Amino acid sequence: MDYLPIFRDVSGRTVIVAGGGAVAARRAELALRAGARVRLFARELGDDFQTIRDHPRLEHIPHCPGQGDFEGAALAYAACKREADDRHVAALARAAGVPVNTADRPELCDFIMPSIVDRAPMIVAVSSSGASPILARMIRARLETMLPSAYGKLAKFAGDFREKVMARLKSAETRRRFWERTLDGPLATLVFSGDEEAAAALMARELDAAEAEEKTGIAGEVYLVGAGPGDPDLITFKALRLMQRADVVLYDRLVGEGILNLVRREAERIYVGKKPDDHTLPQEDISALLARLAREGRRVLRLKGGDPFIFGRGGEEIERLAEERIPFQVVPGVTAASGCSAYAGIPLTHRDHAQSCLFVTAHGRNGLVDLDWSQILRPRQTVAVYMGLRILPDLTAAFIGRGANPDMPVAVVEKGTRPGQRVASGTIANIARKVKEAGFTGPAMIIIGTVVTLRGKLSWYLPGEDSTETRPEGRFTGSI
Ligand SMILES: C[S@@+](CC[C@H](N)C(=O)[O-])C[C@H]1O[C@@H](n2cnc3c(N)ncnc32)[C@H](O)[C@@H]1O
Repeated sequence: MDYLPIFRDVSGRTVIVAGGGAVAARRAELALRAGARVRLFARELGDDFQTIRDHPRLEHIPHCPGQGDFEGAALAYAACKREADDRHVAALARAAGVPVNTADRPELCDFIMPSIVDRAPMIVAVSSSGASPILARMIRARLETMLPSAYGKLAKFAGDFREKVMARLKSAETRRRFWERTLDGPLATLVFSGDEEAAAALMARELDAAEAEEKTGIAGEVYLVGAGPGDPDLITFKALRLMQRADVVLYDRLVGEGILNLVRREAERIYVGKKPDDHTLPQEDISALLARLAREGRRVLRLKGGDPFIFGRGGEEIERLAEERIPFQVVPGVTAASGCSAYAGIPLTHRDHAQSCLFVTAHGRNGLVDLDWSQILRPRQTVAVYMGLRILPDLTAAFIGRGANPDMPVAVVEKGTRPGQRVASGTIANIARKVKEAGFTGPAMIIIGTVVTLRGKLSWYLPGEDSTETRPEGRFTGSI
């Protein structure tokens, strides 16, 4: 983060604005809206000052500011025509210890101006840290369409009840839950529709219920959420909603930083590991921890890579919760086979190649598991193998030993959907050697079947710069 986002109280304080053009007018208008007294230094005022020229808190001074003018000011804006004037104003402000913003001159800025969505008292500020103000404005425009103007009314309504809620609900935790429930439910709808009387009655009932709950103890719950294979854009809306609600998150190795950053910032983070050989916490302990945290009344997010019910042991983790009657929800995620196949340009099924697709795991307690070969070696089928990277030589040897065609195409997708994605393609006979030469470390998904040949035509994803992605034959050079 290049800038610290804060909201500054300038009500009743002096804000200096230097300049008589459109930008200076916008700065002055904003400061007036925030309750400041504006001292405007400009020889002449342009037409843009039309609406605020006679504002009682605006004082127009028709010359350049001097040193004493900045004394005690909260902020200063320079938006002069000449660069030399801007530099002069910025220097005076800085000498007086007053933070200054200078239009279009980042080197003369102590703070920058965000694009704002104004639903006062609700304000959303968007900034690109100066990298692309136009992009920030585009995002603001999108937010404008997503936030009904009645959000301002809702914020005001909540503000009117704030003290009462503070007085009746003692713990910050109960208050947070109370507000999350009321502001995201029927009460908000009543406020939006203008029926504030009914909203106030509902608020009173909700407050009684929350107070009773505080006395009897808050009920915790567990959200078992699939975070997908890595690209944060692949998580579901429901996952995001619950991630934003959690008090504590238990996550493992396959959940990357980009996804963790979407979890509510204040949530406690507990890493529960799980490399193939290095279980930071044994499975039973994870289940016990989930149950304990929920019994303490916390909202527990169990975040798992891919889909929690596909080779994720999600079922085992919630069995104990079910036994102990602890409420839980399960949110599916994009499983690695789907994510990797999509991002590698390999459809798992295709009318000309495969009418079925089998998801298998090759990894047992002691290496390769005994697979059901009659199911696996079927024509016109794709086999997606999870957890197979480390035993790939044994796996491919077993395929050949059971009669598979050694020329059957295979792709191994490492770090699928992530910026470091790499894809190795070859045949059952040579893929283990190619993957070893490329130094894959995983996680990796093995896709076996003639659908792999479609990658030459359908590959589309270009991973980030840190990838050494090998391009499929036919379209790019350098395939493994
Ligand atoms: C314990 S399983 C978890 C699977 C997960 N529940 C799912 O639905 O994707 C871990 C295996 O999933 C595969 N995997 C997970 N994320 C992957 C990724 N981004 N790229 C390739 N393979 C991945 C690998 O085979 C890895 O060994």
